[in-house]
Amino acid sequence: MAKKRIRPAKAFRGVLTLPGDKSISHRSAILAALAAGKSEIFNYSPAADCESTLRCLRGLGVKIEEKGSGIIVEGKGLAGWTKPRKALDAGNSGTTMRLLAGALAGQEFASELTGDNSLRRRPMRRVMEPLRQMGAKIEAREDEFAPLEIEGGALRAIEYAPKVASAQVKSAVLLAGLFAEGETVVREPIHTRDHTELALHEMGAAISRQDGAVRLQGRPKLIARQMVVPGDISAATFFLAATLIVPDSDLIIQGVGLNPTRTAVLDFLASMGAPVSVVALGTHDGELAGDINVRYAPIKGGKISGAMTARLIDELPMLAALGPYTEEGIEIRDAKELRVKESDRIAAMAENLRKMGAEVEEFPDGLRVGARGAGRLHGATIDPHEDHRIAMAFAIAALGAEGETIIRDPQCVAISFPNFFDLLESLLKLEPEDKKQ
Ligand code: S3P
Repeated sequence: MAKKRIRPAKAFRGVLTLPGDKSISHRSAILAALAAGKSEIFNYSPAADCESTLRCLRGLGVKIEEKGSGIIVEGKGLAGWTKPRKALDAGNSGTTMRLLAGALAGQEFASELTGDNSLRRRPMRRVMEPLRQMGAKIEAREDEFAPLEIEGGALRAIEYAPKVASAQVKSAVLLAGLFAEGETVVREPIHTRDHTELALHEMGAAISRQDGAVRLQGRPKLIARQMVVPGDISAATFFLAATLIVPDSDLIIQGVGLNPTRTAVLDFLASMGAPVSVVALGTHDGELAGDINVRYAPIKGGKISGAMTARLIDELPMLAALGPYTEEGIEIRDAKELRVKESDRIAAMAENLRKMGAEVEEFPDGLRVGARGAGRLHGATIDPHEDHRIAMAFAIAALGAEGETIIRDPQCVAISFPNFFDLLESLLKLEPEDKKQ
């Protein structure tokens, strides 16, 4: 699939079920591998990133079988992983690398974690620092970048206050904390996604949160269990946005994860006047899930900054690309972290939005994308910079643009959402002239 062509859409209607949540899938597999006994994980994400986690776990001697849309993990207990024969390859996945760094810090053997060109350029000192404080020895290129060489061993519990709001850093410290005697405490600057905490609790660990401090009692016996992964709300965001770009659209997304640390996107869309409603169906394995309905309506636009930016971190590319379809535009600030994601997402968004005729002002920590007014966006050739969320954001933005948009290297969407284009095409009713082709 060298290129993907996207044409304007007429209406976007249907009922959709999305792949399992990527963040929850990573955690469920890693924790199941550290538990004693067999865990079955239903609706495990088909994302290439989650496959990277399985590849690394297999490299550590953990048996994993794929069964339908789920997996069965034969957990080996906290001390049961074995020394890998070669470097563990986390591919494009920051979550795989940072979370596994935490779990490997507690192992009796040395290991190496590496990844693709993008991942080898992403900052790792943020996890190295606390893990070193806990007693792990970690070497990295320029003391910052993968490959990481980790010499684990006896760890001590620490109290740690990460400087960046990062669920990955918090999770790395908690996973290392499983191997330390006593209480490991993480005080986060902003309440980031708490899937690690919820899964640990479900598997029998003593973990609590009070006044922004997460406390974990070390050396628990994790219990294997059955888990159901809800649909991925970050993947849902692309379809929610499509509904707000294409008039007459009406969409129901079923079985989506509604963990309150992940639903800021619904609050933000509602604050702009989007008719979004949610039916919460209940909690599975500590995670709230339900159905979302959204209908087309003109939306106002708005500003995202501070804690809201951190809570929307994966949704920002799509929200930026919604800017030209709002009445007042969208401004994103305090988003320096976006520059060290799978690509420099601020630069990639600014470059491609400008190609489509949008008005963009770029800042070191974000961007402002102008409102509609200066006419519709027009089709362009988009370079996603091998970043899945950039490719998907522009495929959606293209639905409201004039003419054809070409997405280069569209296969990069497989990093989080392999069937994205199939689902998109199944929902589209193309404009009449396109039907002839
Ligand atoms: C994730 C946390 C976020 C997010 C990433 C997934 C996770 O990263 O951007 O896609 O699963 O913990 P940071 O914690 O580094 O912000």
